[in-house]
Order: sequence, then C-alpha cells, then structure tokens
Amino acid sequence: MRDGNVLCPLPAFAGRGTLQVAAMLITALIFGNISNAIAAGNLTAGRQKALQCQTCHGLDGLSKLPEAPHLAGQPEPYLVKSLNDYRKGIRKNDMMTLVVEKLTDQDVADLAAFYAAIEVTVKLPK
Ligand code: HEC
Repeated sequence: MRDGNVLCPLPAFAGRGTLQVAAMLITALIFGNISNAIAAGNLTAGRQKALQCQTCHGLDGLSKLPEAPHLAGQPEPYLVKSLNDYRKGIRKNDMMTLVVEKLTDQDVADLAAFYAAIEVTVKLPK
C-alpha cells in the first residue's frame, strides 16, 4: 500500500489518519442514533403510511409474503435501524431497497412507531 488515502473510497475521509476517521465514524454513529431516537414517531401518521407496506407486511404487521418478516411488535429502535440500513445501502434487498427510496426520516419514525405499537401475543409450541 503506497498511500492509504488513495484507496479511501469516501472523499470526506481522504487525507485523514485512521484514528481521525475512526473518531468521525464513531461520532456519526452516536449522533445518528441520537437523532433517530429524537425524531418522535407519530402512530396515526404511521398507520396511514403503512398502507404502502401492507401487501408484504400486512397492516397488522403479520407477513403476507414468505420472504417478508413480521413487523408487529418489533422494537421501535430495531425498525428504525433496519429501515435506515436499507436507506443507506448497508442492508440490501430488491424489494426493500426500492420501498425505502421515498421514505424520509419522519416516515421512518412514524412507521416504526406504528408497527412497534402493535400488540402481539404468542403461544409456545407444546
Ligand atoms: C414488495 C414487498 C414489500 C413491501 C411493499 C415492503 N416490504 Fe419490508 N420487507 C420485504 C422483504 C422481502 C423483507 C426482507 C428483506 C431482507 O431479507 O432483508 C423486508 C424487510 C423489512 C424490514 C426488516 C425487518 C427485520 O426484521 O429485519 C423492515 C423494518 C421492513 N421491511 C419495513 C417495511 C416498511 C415500513 C414498509 C412500507 C414502507 C415495507 N417494509 C414495505 C418486503 C416488502
């Protein structure tokens, strides 16, 4: 490796040392999570927005497609993280990557609030 910076694919990080980049990433992660936590989800708005998810995940949050997971009662931070991972391209799926293209931070918060609020009862197998 002649010059590590040349290999760095992110222009914002070019010319910076590894430690500095690590610090920036950690800061981005922390602030990313805090801002996600702060963006308060609105249940009613989320219910309305979930109409576009119902073909696959159901308005009740129970999957209608063999390869789609249930969303009902999932922890809100997990839903936010999953949706944002698709938005950032960290997590890829032909269907979800398309779906999240049009979502804003507020949409993500609202949808997560709605699906997380669905009450689930379970029964263990005997
Ligand atoms: C065309 C079908 C389809 C639509 C519409 C759709 N999804 Fe999905 N969704 C999927 C599939 C398939 C997966 C599993 C993808 C994977 O394997 O990563 C998934 C995964 C997810 C996950 C990850 C859940 C987990 O447990 O990891 C979330 C969250 C999610 N969808 C939310 C939504 C929301 C919110 C909407 C509406 C804005 C939506 N989806 C619309 C098909 C769909």
